[in-house]
Parts: sequence; C-alpha cells; structure tokens
Amino acid sequence: MYYHHHHPNTNDHQHRRRQSNQFKMDQLFCSSLKNQKTNNSIIIKYLSILLLMFSLFSTKNLFVQSFRPYNYYAPHQYPETGPLSYNFPLIKAFRGELTPNNMLSQATHLCEGALMGPSSLVVYQHYLYTGTIGGGIYRCNLETGNATRIVKVANELCRTKYWDASLCGRPLGIRVDRSGNLYFIDAYLGLHQISFYGANQQRLRVKRLLSPDQVGSRYMTHLALDEGGGANGGIIFYITIASTRHDLNEWPRMILEPDRSGRVVRFDMDLNQTEILMQGLWYPSSVQLSDDRTSILVVEFTARRVVRHYIRGPQRGKTETWIQNLPGEGEHLIRSLDKYQETYWLPVVNARNVSSPSMIDWLSDKPWIREEIMQNFTALGQKIEMLGAKWTNSNLERLGFRLKNLHFFYDEALSNDYGMVLELDSNGRLLGSLHSIDGSNFRLSEVVEGPTENPYERVLYIGSYSNPYILKLTIPNFTQDYQQKNKQIISNNKITENGVDFSLLPYGSTRRAIATNLDGTNTISLDDDNKAIFINAPSSSSSSSSTSTLNRRLRKDATRYSSST
Ligand SMILES: *[C@@H]1O[C@H](CO)[C@@H](O)[C@H](O)[C@H]1NC(C)=O
Ligand SMILES: *[C@@H]1O[C@H](CO)[C@@H](O)[C@H](O)[C@H]1NC(C)=O
Ligand SMILES: *[C@@H]1O[C@H](CO)[C@@H](O)[C@H](O)[C@H]1NC(C)=O
Ligand SMILES: *[C@@H]1O[C@H](CO)[C@@H](O)[C@H](O)[C@H]1NC(C)=O
Ligand SMILES: *[C@@H]1O[C@H](CO)[C@@H](O)[C@H](O)[C@H]1NC(C)=O
Repeated sequence: MYYHHHHPNTNDHQHRRRQSNQFKMDQLFCSSLKNQKTNNSIIIKYLSILLLMFSLFSTKNLFVQSFRPYNYYAPHQYPETGPLSYNFPLIKAFRGELTPNNMLSQATHLCEGALMGPSSLVVYQHYLYTGTIGGGIYRCNLETGNATRIVKVANELCRTKYWDASLCGRPLGIRVDRSGNLYFIDAYLGLHQISFYGANQQRLRVKRLLSPDQVGSRYMTHLALDEGGGANGGIIFYITIASTRHDLNEWPRMILEPDRSGRVVRFDMDLNQTEILMQGLWYPSSVQLSDDRTSILVVEFTARRVVRHYIRGPQRGKTETWIQNLPGEGEHLIRSLDKYQETYWLPVVNARNVSSPSMIDWLSDKPWIREEIMQNFTALGQKIEMLGAKWTNSNLERLGFRLKNLHFFYDEALSNDYGMVLELDSNGRLLGSLHSIDGSNFRLSEVVEGPTENPYERVLYIGSYSNPYILKLTIPNFTQDYQQKNKQIISNNKITENGVDFSLLPYGSTRRAIATNLDGTNTISLDDDNKAIFINAPSSSSSSSSTSTLNRRLRKDATRYSSST
C-alpha cells in the first residue's frame, strides 16, 4: 500500500486524479487512514469504512452502466502511448470446455537437447522446422528425433552475450508454402525465405524479403501466407509487428506498459510493396488466414483476445472481436488439420481465473505503480550490468540485463506454470482445451498438427520460447468419437443430439453441441460481476526506452548467414 503515500509531483498527481474512480476510492482510503492517525476515534474509523464501501458500490455501478464492457471493438480508442488504466475481466472458473484435464502433461519430448526455444513450427515431409534462441533454424527429423541446424545468423558477438537476442537474432514465426519454400520472421532482421535446390534438395539458399526498417518495426513476431493472392499470382504475407517502440528484449516492458503500438502489415512479394493494415494493437503475437481467405485472425497477447480483420469481400477493412477475455495471454493461433471442421489451436500462457489472478491483473488499473516498477528495475539493472561489464563477470552482466528488461520481474511476479491449449472453431467458439495442471508443460507458444495414418488419433507438435525440446502429444480424434457415439445413440433410438451427455469424454466433451450453447459474443464464461473497461485520457509522458546505438549497429552487421545441409 506504499503507493498511497507517494505523490512526487503535481503533474503526476493531476494525471492520477483523472485515472479512474478506483483512484478516488484509494484517495478516500488514504484520507481515512490520516483521520485514524490524528483522531484515532472509533466512530471516524467506522464512518470511513462505510464511506469506502459506499464508494466501492457507486464506482462499480457507475462504470457498469456507462460502458458496454464486452461486445465492442475499438482498436484506435486507446492512445498508443502514455499511462493507461484498463481492466479485462477474468473468468470465474475453468468450467465447461475449460474443465481441467491433465492431457497436456502426457506429451513426450522430441529432438531434446539439440535446440533451444522452438517457438514456432512447421511440418514438411518428415521434418519439423523451427527457429531457436541463438539465431538458428533447425530441422528435426520426425522419425529419428535427430535435429540439424540448417541456417544460422553469423554474429561473433552473440557468443559472448548469448542472452541478448538483439545480437544473436531470433527467428520466430515460420511457415511453408505449397512448393516447400520456408518463410521465417526474425524479430530483429525481418522476413526471410529459405529455398531448397539441387539433388535431393540438399542445398539451400536464404534470402531476405523484407527488412524491419521498411515497415517501421522494432519487433516482428509472426506471419501468414496468402498463396496466389499477389499481383502476379505470388504470395501475400501478413506480418505482425509486435511493437514499433520496443524490441524483443523488452517484452516484459510491453506487458507492463502495456505497449499499444502493434501493427499488421501486408506485403506483396510480387510488387515488393507494403501496406499497414492494422495499428494500435496490443502486442500482436501471431496472424492466421481463414480458410475462405476473406479475413485474418490476429492474437493480441496483452489484451487477451483475438480480432478478425476482413481482407476481402463486402466487409473488407472491417475489424471485429473474434474471442475475448481469454483465460490467459494468447500465443500463436494456427489452423488445425481437421478437414471436417475449420478449427484452430491456441496456446494460452499464465492461464488463470478470479481465484488465481496474476499481479498484472491487480496492476492493470494502477499505471503509476507499473511505471515506478519499470523505472526502478531499469535503474537497478543498468547499475548491475555496468558492474558486470567492469569486472568482466558475464553472470553479473546477464543478471543486470534481466533486471533491466524486467525478465526477472515477469518470472517472479507475473507468470505461472499452468499449461493450456485451446481449440476454437471458425467463429472463435471454444471446442475444447488441453491442460497441464501439474506444471510439466507450460509457456507454450504454438501447436501444429501433424499428419497421421490413424483416423482415431490426432498428433500435435508443441513449441515453446524456452524449452530445449519440441513436445509431441497424441490425442484421440473426438470427431470420430462423436460420430461413433452419435451413430450408436441414434441407432438405439434413445436420445437426440442436443440431449447427448458427453461428460465422460476428457476433452471437447460438448464438441458438437457447443455451437448452440454459447452466445455470439465468444467471451469465455462471463461472470455476473465483471468490471467494465475504462480508459484514461492520453498523457504526454512517454516511457520509450531505446536500445543503444551500438546495439543497432551490431544488429545491422548481423545479416550475414552461413548455411550447411
Ligand atoms: C483457476 O486457475 C488456476 C490456474 O491459474 C487453476 O489451478 C484452478 O483450478 C482454477 N480454479 C477454478 C475454480 O477453475
Ligand atoms: C542421430 O544422431 C546421432 C547422434 O548425433 C547419430 O549417432 C545417429 O546415427 C543419428 N541417427 C540418424 C538416423 O541419423
Ligand atoms: C524492395 O523495396 C525496398 C525499399 O522499398 C528496397 O530497399 C529493396 O531493395 C527492394 N527489394 C527488391 C527485391 O527490389
Ligand atoms: C523508483 O522510481 C521512483 C519514480 O520513478 C523514483 O522517484 C525513486 O527514486 C526510485 N527509487 C529508486 C530506489 O531508484
Ligand atoms: C477424425 O475423424 C473424422 C471423422 O471420421 C475425419 O474426417 C478426420 O479426418 C479425422 N481426423 C484426423 C486428424 O485424422
């Protein structure tokens, strides 16, 4: 509660007064404390508690009445910079399609120890391709489990400061086209193509197609391919720019601010032309094309939602909410292999509910505390980092780096070890979820489904930003189950489709019935007492922290590649 007694300058103070009614409540509480101190009278004490309770009720009702909390989407309503108070409701409990199972903990390890941080994956002809910490692209043999590095960003400096992604490069989103060319996004270096050629495709060529400078990016995350959409029948790329203000190293800062400078750009490879499609996004972590190619789905990590943006047809240019109030921060949304139904896999990190909130939920309407935390950690981290450099102690330098960029704070205060993956249909409705409740598998970033001969099973490959392996999980094909079971039920002439009790199934228990059960908002299990979203007036103060010019220069040098196959 120390923040009640910090009023460093009047400008700040004025700003805070505009913050929210929550703050008025705090002030009230503050003055009630003072009263206690001076008068120490029991009557005043109880009076202030009564007042406090009254203010609690009145502020809540006021906001619930004056804002429509859930069913609107206004990406440009939030100022892109400055302190912001926000409040995205948490769900009450993991119920229905979110009922916990421990299926995700059953996953086995693939290519263990050979790679680090396989954040995004593609399956192509017996191989999994993935980008890793340290700037490598690996291919992992699905049968033997052997991994080989096929591309590496050549940078000597990365060796001494391996923890600094701006020196090493960091390949994130990866996709493959129909002819087998790979495309990957490096957070610092942009969009690249890897093409294979020669006898048995044993040689490869790496080409940069788009640099971050061309689109004003400081941090690129993921991509979607629209093959045949280009001016001459080539590929259109949809690319998420997580931030135009912070780089990958500063990702915890992007959560605390929260950063609202994310974009989606459209890149026509045929014309070498780019266009900004969306702006003001909250840490967009991935983009996915819909089956009918009329829209893209963009995950906003810190806003805990997915939005749909139409790129073709009568609704072109329109943006709408696809799913919101996710039970945690959404990572990469990827089309499943289900041909029967258009479904998507979405890993969710820090899965939580009202009984297990994260500190970020408590901090969300207290921007001045977030600001102070960031400033204090940065100041301390910079000092420690300098000490480490002075005494050439790399462990100390790394600690300083992690403190400075708030990685340390995120690990300690914001993250949990609950693993969760959602399956959603083409309208953003939840079909089922996989859980790891025992902490074996968490911080998962992407799920891609691999082909299988057995129609009764589905094979999932799961990546993460930090694991030294790829996870493989085989789950039953519940479409099969449903059809079998349904056939049986219908032949027995007992119950109709909507009355079917699927509760014995561990996953997707109401997989087919769900579409009729959920209302159109796709807000996961809303509570009756959710608070409304409220927005502050923009402030002129900005807290952009920039990477040193040295780092920028080093990064420019990092665009040489070595390849081996
Ligand atoms: C709430 O979320 C936590 C994980 O953060 C989970 O362990 C717990 O079971 C959930 N509680 C309910 C009531 O769903
Ligand atoms: C896999 O890698 C190991 C060690 O690098 C090697 O001994 C083995 O022959 C490889 N297996 C295959 C099938 O390539
Ligand atoms: C594409 O355009 C950028 C700048 O607009 C330019 O630097 C680059 O060389 C162009 N690439 C090709 C292949 O023409
Ligand atoms: C922490 O940050 C606040 C506000 O930015 C500043 O006033 C204070 O001096 C800082 N404290 C330390 C120990 O650096
Ligand atoms: C699951 O079963 C359905 C129904 O038979 C089938 O259409 C689908 O292809 C199967 N999925 C997989 C991944 O085999």
